[in-house]
Amino acid sequence: MRHGRFSGEAAKIAQHYSESVSFDWRLYRYDIAGSLAHAAALAAAGIISPNELAEIEHGLRAIEEEINRGEFVWKPELEDLHMNIESSLTSGIGAAGAKLHTARSRNDQIALDLRMFARFETGEVQHGLRELQRALLEVAEAHRDAIMPGYTHTQRAQPILFAHHLLAHLEALERDHARLQDGLARINVMPLGSGALAGSTIVLDRQLIADRLGFPALSRNSLDAVGDRDFVAEMLFALALIGVHLSRLSEDIILWTTTEFGFATLSDDYSTGSSLMPQKKNSDMAELTRGRTGRLVGNLVALLTTLKGLPTSYQRDLQEDKEPLFDSIDAVKAALVVLSGLVRGMAIHDAVMEKAACDPMLLATDLAEYLVRKGLPFREAHDVVGRLVRDASCALDQIPFERLRETSYFFEADVAEVFNVRQSLVRRTAPGAPSPANVAVELERWRNVLASNLSS
Ligand code: ARG
Repeated sequence: MRHGRFSGEAAKIAQHYSESVSFDWRLYRYDIAGSLAHAAALAAAGIISPNELAEIEHGLRAIEEEINRGEFVWKPELEDLHMNIESSLTSGIGAAGAKLHTARSRNDQIALDLRMFARFETGEVQHGLRELQRALLEVAEAHRDAIMPGYTHTQRAQPILFAHHLLAHLEALERDHARLQDGLARINVMPLGSGALAGSTIVLDRQLIADRLGFPALSRNSLDAVGDRDFVAEMLFALALIGVHLSRLSEDIILWTTTEFGFATLSDDYSTGSSLMPQKKNSDMAELTRGRTGRLVGNLVALLTTLKGLPTSYQRDLQEDKEPLFDSIDAVKAALVVLSGLVRGMAIHDAVMEKAACDPMLLATDLAEYLVRKGLPFREAHDVVGRLVRDASCALDQIPFERLRETSYFFEADVAEVFNVRQSLVRRTAPGAPSPANVAVELERWRNVLASNLSS
């Protein structure tokens, strides 16, 4: 690459500073697939002969196998994966290899590679999301009758079904799945043919390339195509938000497995011990997942900051897109696998949750709603029950009827029926609310969603 214009090698430190092959080598499959499609277009345009095309194809496939076997020697002095592969091809097959880069630049080449990578990894992350959803659903189904206190502000609030709580996480993960799917529309745009920035005087059949690589659309502006990393930013956002969701799930699990809550116990294979305190069983997997979210958010901010001041078209700054993307993808995929195993292995203590859920205080709102049904405006009912709670010297359901009547004459003998947690749940029938009937329908719906997505 330096042979014509430069009289010597770049300084070692400059080479070291700018090389990307130490990390971009992992795009090799896409780079080679892109080169194969590009070569086909060169042949179709008569730039290379059918024989040369066959040589290039053979040479590239041999390189791919060499890389697969771990035998390819990546040379940092060749800067990036593109030059490494091209140089190996040319030394393998000679003249034909030297023609491959006609009407192509590394600028449109890296854009293509990264898009193909992002497309593949989108599917991988979606698959991981489905796995975790399945794990959560299995636990929800196994404990479908378990009731627990629902919390707001981490304070006991109202009773819910444990399955309803787990299904809340399935909803968030479903949005993540859909968000990644939406991103595909912008990933799936074929940039090859944009050249360095202005296309080429040698005009290739871009549609042929796109068809071979499975791209439904061609980029429409060469300047934009080499400089656009929106799809990376979007993916980093989607991954950061997955991280946030996994972090919140982790936090739930960390709370549930404390002695104070006692709702769940981690399996031995997904927990850690203390080097000092022999009794400890720590939830490090959940904590690391929660902690690693910092990196995911950081990677998004890093890329947005890199992009912010860039002039239109390709700038070398864009090389900084890869490490954050690789890191976020690796971190999220690993977290999804680990959390799936952790969730599946958790022992759930239904009786402990039920005992906590049977705190009559959780039905204070039900009591106010009872008064509403008797005709009292809600604000007044709220006030009446608030005063009962404040002044009670016993559990809410033990307050003598006469005392209730003194507070409000809207109380009648049937008030005792309020203090039945399961009945309280049965009444919560609005769509989205946690009545056992609703939750059963949702469990069934999720089972179908996840069964029909077994392949995704
Ligand atoms: N390593 C570069 C990147 O990741 C590839 C494109 C290099 N282009 C160039 N003109 N130096 O963005």
